[in-house]
Amino acid sequence: MTIDFDSFTPDALRRHPTEKWCEPDVIGAGVAEMDFGVAPEVAAAVRTAVDAGALAYPTPRQEEAARAACAGWFGRTTGWEIGPGRVHLTADVLTALTLVLDHLVPAGAPVVLPVPNYMPFLSLPELFGHPVLRVPGITDAAGRYTMDLDGIDAAFRAGGRLLILCNPHNPVGRVYDRAELLALAAVVDANGGRVFSDEIHAPLVLDPTRRHVPYAAVDDVTAGHAITAAAISKGWNVPGLKCAQLIISNDADAARFAPVARFAAHQASTPGIIATAAAYDDGGPWLAEVVEYLRGNAAHLGDLVRRQLPGVGYWQPEGTYLAWLDTRGLAPEDPSRFFADHARVLTTNGAACGAPRFTRFNFAMARPTLDQALARMGEVLR
Ligand SMILES: Cc1ncc(COP(=O)(O)O)c(C=O)c1O
Repeated sequence: MTIDFDSFTPDALRRHPTEKWCEPDVIGAGVAEMDFGVAPEVAAAVRTAVDAGALAYPTPRQEEAARAACAGWFGRTTGWEIGPGRVHLTADVLTALTLVLDHLVPAGAPVVLPVPNYMPFLSLPELFGHPVLRVPGITDAAGRYTMDLDGIDAAFRAGGRLLILCNPHNPVGRVYDRAELLALAAVVDANGGRVFSDEIHAPLVLDPTRRHVPYAAVDDVTAGHAITAAAISKGWNVPGLKCAQLIISNDADAARFAPVARFAAHQASTPGIIATAAAYDDGGPWLAEVVEYLRGNAAHLGDLVRRQLPGVGYWQPEGTYLAWLDTRGLAPEDPSRFFADHARVLTTNGAACGAPRFTRFNFAMARPTLDQALARMGEVLR
């Protein structure tokens, strides 16, 4: 299989618009979707159900296949052997978080959130009665982001109960290694805290020297305090299909979640459940090609930023398809707004991630489009 990446032109994408490509003459580099369509195995599985008119409630066997496929994928790719019985289905990762907030941590328990982070995490817990304690991350001399463990410790001591870990990290693109996760676990454990580990970007590790390490798989301590969320929606580019997995790694949570599990699964869609089994079981070759292309884009974007956007900081992400541009040195007060208004390139405003004046740029696009986006952004800065 060879994906024709160049065929995904802006015009072609606007013909069947998604949120990322729904405006004329605007390049979508904001919303976290990829421009590369869908794996043929996933499309075929969903098409079969559509053609058969079989879009009613899923069978227990279909749900079991999705749960087993998720467990199998983690086992094959990371060595985490979690049985399918510990994998629960729900609509999406944000729903998974709300289930955890409602059922697995005490009512009102404050959430510890390293920032920057995925935008909804800054506000969603508050809507469910959980205050958010933000902990700004730190960057080393090379521009590499790390979590501030002293700050996280202080937030737990100030009452925090559940840390949201995003790994691979949106927006900074870190893929944390075992040593970093162990260091974090020591802080969480010392405070009797819990971790919601959002691993939605796990299939998208770009740095060939890194591997995704599921937080709950690190040791018995992390398994005992973690609750993991996963989905095919980023790696296989089907966020509209609505099926995510909540993975429970300890007996106490398993017992507490048991009465909720049926209702959680009811929120997943039948096409999403079918696609989940197909992607995890058979979508490996498509994913490998996409990851290879994204790796090239991440390097190419570094060259483009150096040439087109002087003064902008770029650290090549280890995972995801998101670049976290340090645009604090640019003249416009609000760089993301400026690029939208003047270059017609839509990015994500760092302020929404908890870091004003930074800009998140989604580079999951055909390389000619990437060239065009950076040329436009460079032009308006000159
Ligand atoms: C880190 C992260 N978590 C969660 C989500 C949302 O996932 P879902 O659509 O499954 O709620 C996204 C979407 O971009 C994301 O990047």
